[in-house]
Parts: sequence; structure tokens; C-alpha cells
Amino acid sequence: MKPLRILFVASEADPFVKVGGLGDVAGSLPYALQALGADLDVRLVIPFHASTRTEGLTLVRETVFTLLRDGREVPAQVFYTDVKGLPVYLISGAPVTGSLKVYDPNPLADGEKYTFFSLAALEMARRLDWRPDIVHANDWHTAAAIYQVRRMQHDPFWKGVKTVFSVHNLGYMGPEAENALVSYGLPPIHEPLLPEWACRQPMGQALWAADEIVAVSPSYAEEIQTPEYGYGLEKYLQAQRAKVTGIVNGIDYSLWDPARDKALEATFDSTSLAERAKNKANLQAQFALTEMPEAPLLAMITRFDFQKGVDIALNSLRMVTDLSWQLILLGTGNAALEDAARKLEADFPHRIASVIRFDARLSRQIYGSSDILLMPSRYEPCGLAQMIAMRYGSVPLARATGGLRDTIADSRTGVLVTDA
Ligand code: GLC
Repeated sequence: MKPLRILFVASEADPFVKVGGLGDVAGSLPYALQALGADLDVRLVIPFHASTRTEGLTLVRETVFTLLRDGREVPAQVFYTDVKGLPVYLISGAPVTGSLKVYDPNPLADGEKYTFFSLAALEMARRLDWRPDIVHANDWHTAAAIYQVRRMQHDPFWKGVKTVFSVHNLGYMGPEAENALVSYGLPPIHEPLLPEWACRQPMGQALWAADEIVAVSPSYAEEIQTPEYGYGLEKYLQAQRAKVTGIVNGIDYSLWDPARDKALEATFDSTSLAERAKNKANLQAQFALTEMPEAPLLAMITRFDFQKGVDIALNSLRMVTDLSWQLILLGTGNAALEDAARKLEADFPHRIASVIRFDARLSRQIYGSSDILLMPSRYEPCGLAQMIAMRYGSVPLARATGGLRDTIADSRTGVLVTDA
């Protein structure tokens, strides 16, 4: 039997480049799909960002072609590599290399880059004569690939190709990509059920064009159909509910394994949890927190933004002065929130360490030593930190929203909040 071919299109993927949870998912889901059986041929395609890590990999230049933008040719180069048996393509070209960050501070640059990349990913498949059965794109950045497959249904190569669109975060819709889409030949759609503005944006177009929409948790699939989480698209998503599914993300237990994690001073598993105390003492010493074994060490490992509720935690902790707790905060993002974190540390020295940077190694040490992981997210499509925390023996304390609701069991009843 001919294997089912899946082209997985994403803006980031671990270990090449990772900014957030999407990078973890795009770096592990293709393997999980592959593991389902030999009758699946999964390939990953990502942009060749300036920050892509390629040490130890052999890159082969696979093909070159041009895309048309307002009648002008824009060259694209495709590189190929194989990572632990997964074929991976990296696409380069001026719109990608011209942008220093994966998510550019200039949204127009992102609009240009991701429209180019999404269309180049499809053109690549044609050049390689590798016709996918399913194109699986993720979030607004790669949404144009979904819309384009639908537009190309008259083309023998694309005819009958199905699309899956995963929504990791509906809040980001790519409004600044409008002009780029038109320049690369993707006109606004006409769909009376969608708000007019959404007909011009990649997110709206992909929701309309996709054969299947997958939200990254069952609760989020429901939430995006409500005014609170739907960002104006809830009515449309309600009307489309037959094609909306929620599938919870997972983490790769071989990559997140406290029994083998080299970042940890003391490795452990569920039978040797006492070892964690060494990690905790080590972290307290490293960050000049008073060594108090009995005081719970709280942790937050997060992007500093409104979604994540960092402000809620910072403000609340100020009020909890009668209990002995300590906190270590790791992350970067919104400048005002970073300042608030620094201020809290200054006000509560030896109790709070605010580490304002991206540090993958330290994050592992925090998971492997903290007692409680705080996730007061205002909304959380899925969330991965709570899963890692549970794997590393840190108890997640979270707001019952989205994927947090679907993955954290209530300690009093032992059942998921949704089952209660
Ligand atoms: C986004 C969401 C997060 C989710 C991740 C991976 O970052 O905000 O909740 O876990 O995507 O799907």
C-alpha cells in the first residue's frame, strides 16, 4: 500500500529553532505520527531562520525555484536534512533571511516572510514531485498554505489534497499579512459568516479553507466557540463545529526524562523523589535564596505576557506575606512585566529570584527542583509546562482553562477538572 503522505508545515521546530510551545510540538508530533506505522510518510518543513541551529547536521541543497510577488520573481532555496529518521526541509529566501527574529518585531516583515514560506513549502512539494495526501499547517504563520491548497483544487497536483489546520493560539491572526497575501496572489475570501476583516487575514482564510480544524486541547476547542476566547470568530467556529476537534498536545518523554536529564545535579524518578532535595538546595544556593527545605519553592517558567497571567502571580504573591515560600521566575517578554518581576525580587530579596532570560538548561533544573509550578494563565490553548512539571515531580497550580483543565487532575478528587 502507498504510504499516507503528510507535509507538516510550521514556523518553528525544535531542535532547529524554538521560541515557544509550537516549536516543541512541531519538533515532536511528526515523530509521534511516524511511530504510528510504516504506512505514514511524514515530512517537516520550516523556514531557514537566521537563528536555526544546524550543528552536526548535513544539509543538502535540494532545489531552487522562484515565487511570483506582484509580477516579480522571488527566489527560494530548499535545503534537506534528516533528523533521527525524519525528513526535514528548510526554506530560505530574501523574506526569511531579511528578518533576524523568528517572530519579527515588525509585523509587516513577518507577513511577508510567512506568506512567502507557506507558498514556497507547497511549491517545494511540487518541485520534488512529492504529492502530500495531507498538508498540516499550524497557526496564522503557515495558514496561507491551507488557503492555497484549496485555491489550487483545479490543479491536478493539488486536486484532492486534504488540509488540517492546528490552532495553537487563536489570538494571533496575522492582520499585518494582508498586503503580502494579495501580493503573492491570495485575494480576500468571500464568506458572509466570517467578519469582513477576517476574510482578509491568514487565520480567517485557513479556518474557512481547512478540511479539519484542530484546537490543541478539547477544552480550547470549546472555548474558541465562545465570545470570551473567540476573538470575534466564535460564531463562525460554532457554525463550523462539525470540522472542529480538540486534541491535546503531549510531550516527548524521552526528551523530558528526570532519570536521564544531564542538566540536573541529581537525577531521579518516581521511586527516588528524595533526590530532588539536592537539586532544590543547589538552586537555592545558585540564586542566593535562603536555604529552607521546608519552604515551598514556587516556580514560573514562561513567556512574560498578558496571556500567561504573570502580573496576576506577581501581584498576588505580594499579599502572601504570612507564609514562607520562595519563588524563581524564568522567562522574557513584555518589558513592563520584566520590570515588575525585577521589582518584586528587589522588594523580597532571598525569597525571589527573577531570571530574565531564555535558558533551556536552567528551566530543566527548575522543573527538577521546584515544589509547585504556577500557571495562572488567562487562557491557555494547551500548555506544555504543566506536563513537564508533572513529569519532573513539581505540582502544577493552574487556572482551570484550556489545556490546563484537560491535563491537570484535581488533587482532592484525582480526576480531571473536566470530568468532575
Ligand atoms: C501556544 C499556546 C500554548 C500551547 C502551544 C503549543 O504557545 O499558547 O498553550 O501549548 O501553543 O500548542
